[in-house]
Amino acid sequence: VLSAEDRALVRALWKKLGSNVGVYTTEALERTFLAFPATKTYFSHLDLSPGSAQVRAHGQKVADALSLAVERLDDLPRALSALSHLHARQLRVDPASFQLLGHCLLVTLARHYPGDFSPALQASLDKFLSHVISALASEHQ
Ligand code: HEM
Repeated sequence: VLSAEDRALVRALWKKLGSNVGVYTTEALERTFLAFPATKTYFSHLDLSPGSAQVRAHGQKVADALSLAVERLDDLPRALSALSHLHARQLRVDPASFQLLGHCLLVTLARHYPGDFSPALQASLDKFLSHVISALASEHQ
């Protein structure tokens, strides 16, 4: 469960990211594709070359979903149920790959916000991402 402190840390970081959430999710996607190339197989219909506008557009969609999750921390399974359905039933994404993107997002944020990235913030963000991932994976069996 996310404690009040976890929520406060995640919300404060999100506020600081402001309109740049999409920039960082895009970097996280690029890192995921590079570090874990098997994840690229789901995106064979997109241009995945560095700086691709399609990856940027996709990064913005992921960013919007994460920002919605930050707004609805008490209601994550419901907030993400349509996306869970999409990833499980239509896209058939292996739920293990959610962890890889989550990991790359942590690395990306640590790189851009080194001064903010205390062990406590890392722990809270990791919990937040675990909640998002379990909500997203809830339709998989
Ligand atoms: C599409 C969110 C992880 C594969 C999407 C969309 C969102 C989203 C918002 C757009 C849905 C729409 O257009 O209605 C997320 C979030 C993730 C996550 C929040 C984890 C934190 C992943 C992972 C993979 C993946 C790990 C595969 C390795 C896809 C694919 C699409 C998609 C293939 C469709 C892309 C397209 O054709 O435009 N995701 N996603 N997602 N996602 Fe995810």
